[in-house]
Amino acid sequence: MTNTLSVIVGSVLGASEYVGEALEQVGKNAGFDTQIQFEPNIDTLPLKGTWLICTSTHGAGDLPENIQPFAEALENCDLSGIKAYVVGLGDSSYDTFCHGAIAMERKLLKAGATILAEPLHIDVLNHPIPEDIAVDWFNKQLQN
Ligand SMILES: Cc1cc2nc3c(=O)[nH]c(=O)nc-3n(C[C@H](O)[C@H](O)[C@H](O)COP(=O)(O)O)c2cc1C
Repeated sequence: MTNTLSVIVGSVLGASEYVGEALEQVGKNAGFDTQIQFEPNIDTLPLKGTWLICTSTHGAGDLPENIQPFAEALENCDLSGIKAYVVGLGDSSYDTFCHGAIAMERKLLKAGATILAEPLHIDVLNHPIPEDIAVDWFNKQLQN
């Protein structure tokens, strides 16, 4: 049976969308049957297989608006069939660096998902092309 990879994007300005698309391609190359959601909707995601959450942080450490309904919906879900990766984009000049990704990680764990690797928190101050480091990281994870 084919493994599924669902890439779930939280973004305001588009950077996390580029990263999500690049990571979906990595998954595809590794043989996953992939989908990507830019307006994540729990009702159209498989509650099994692998999820990859790729989200920025905005406001005062908040999740982007497009992923907030999804994040709230996770509170009523059993995600024990899900294995997940978390990638965050943020700016280390904020003391709420990558708090959106950290919030998603907590919600996944609380709902019973297995986090497959230490989440990647990309500081866009040091990585002006965040997809480069994200692709390297995900390739390494999939080789493990
Ligand atoms: C108004 C505003 C607020 C932000 N707040 C945070 C923050 O609290 N923590 C953080 O780590 N990054 C913060 N950032 C940085 C963004 O997360 C970063 O620029 C990211 O690359 C944006 O990704 P996106 O284009 O997918 O939304 C903020 C950026 C803006 C413009």
